[in-house]
Amino acid sequence: MEAVSRTAQWTAAARALETERDDRLFADPYARTVADGIGFELLERYAGAGTVPFLAIRTTYLDRAIGRAVEDQGIRQVVFLAAGMDTRFYRLGWPAGVTVYELDRPALLAAKADMLAGEPAPPGRERRTVAVDLTKDWTGPLKEAGWRSDETTLWVVEGLLFFLPEEAVRALITTLSAHSAPGSVLLGDVISRSALKNPLSRTFLKALEEDGNPWLFGTEEPEQLLTDCGWSPREVRQPGEEGADFGRWPYPVPAREMPRIPRSFLFTCNLSTGEEKAA
Ligand SMILES: C[S@@+](CC[C@H](N)C(=O)[O-])C[C@H]1O[C@@H](n2cnc3c(N)ncnc32)[C@H](O)[C@@H]1O
Repeated sequence: MEAVSRTAQWTAAARALETERDDRLFADPYARTVADGIGFELLERYAGAGTVPFLAIRTTYLDRAIGRAVEDQGIRQVVFLAAGMDTRFYRLGWPAGVTVYELDRPALLAAKADMLAGEPAPPGRERRTVAVDLTKDWTGPLKEAGWRSDETTLWVVEGLLFFLPEEAVRALITTLSAHSAPGSVLLGDVISRSALKNPLSRTFLKALEEDGNPWLFGTEEPEQLLTDCGWSPREVRQPGEEGADFGRWPYPVPAREMPRIPRSFLFTCNLSTGEEKAA
């Protein structure tokens, strides 16, 4: 497995810790299995910067937003970009007829298949894994797996964008809008550029770099990025703000006007109709 794919075991370890709390926000009963020992080692190595509470918040925010997209908006194609060790296919209650596509590097998907071998698919839903490099053309393999660009899609890009150079981030998000039917939704997270240089996270950032998966991309203006790439941001939240706190965020939330603050953003976007730009 590539170094960057190990980070999927790191985030799975954080989900295991949340699952094991009495006051858990969600239960991911597979997280400890897919995290394996390495996930917990990385949790220690990358400690600090509010990682564990942030990952609990991110998971909960996205779980709920995914639920709304499929229940209220009736979307039946769900694509997890850089799915990693995500087990939402198994652990969330999906409406009948949902197809979940999990895209990631081939070695990660193979390792995950081994770890979850024998886990029966819950009835009424389907899961298809697609081995890709998301910095290259990946829409062909997704189509071959059965995904249709003329039907609405829920795209989830969680824990990926900071690992990509800016051109690749913009190309990826633009590809999503270019291949989305009206009514499609994009969910995900991104960090601020200042988070790439936060002196308080120096040890954490250095460890990521030494391990071969440096953080490369951040923006102070996620709304602008998403709009530039064909999306209409419906909601952008920092952890600790209303709708992205869940009783887990231990720090004050800095106002958006304050410069040079390391931040994370969680976002929900609709496909742009073009009218927003004209307005
Ligand atoms: C931090 S993990 C996030 C996994 C999962 N979405 C989560 O939040 O737990 C980053 C994931 O990005 C994947 N990844 C990184 N670069 C990629 C690329 N170029 N193509 C496909 N997947 C990539 C890694 O394999 C890894 O699974």
